[in-house]
Amino acid sequence: MPEFLPEVLPAVEIGWRLGRQFWGQGYGSEAAHAVLEFALQDRGLDRVVAITHTGNRASENIMRKLGMVAERETSHPVFGLPLRVYAIDLTEYQA
Ligand SMILES: CC(C)(COP(=O)(O)OP(=O)(O)OC[C@H]1O[C@@H](n2cnc3c(N)ncnc32)[C@H](O)[C@@H]1OP(=O)(O)O)[C@@H](O)C(=O)NCCC(=O)NCCS
Repeated sequence: MPEFLPEVLPAVEIGWRLGRQFWGQGYGSEAAHAVLEFALQDRGLDRVVAITHTGNRASENIMRKLGMVAERETSHPVFGLPLRVYAIDLTEYQA
């Protein structure tokens, strides 16, 4: 639950962070796909969100490749940085 951003609650968030030496090799995309599949198919959630700093191109590329759609522009309640909220519903998901 992304409790730092009450305006999107209730929601289940997926996210990713890799050590810098592992960037750019497709691991982020592969891991994100596996997590989304687990959330929607194994756990039976009907909706998942992912939240990124606006302009984090690698992360936004991953979200879009997963079929997630940008649906909200906002800012971090404490730090003020621009955030973009992506989401996908089970009905839109194609494994
Ligand atoms: C975001 C993160 C997990 C991406 O992992 P990764 O393994 O490098 O990602 P991938 O190699 O699967 O690449 C994902 C996509 O972004 C693109 N990409 C990768 N690095 C990029 C960069 N620096 N600038 C622009 N695009 C980039 C890739 O080309 C790929 O897109 P494509 O499939 O259309 O070619 C990794 O960069 C990271 O841990 N960053 C720090 C933490 C962070 O920002 N987490 C996200 C918080 S929302």
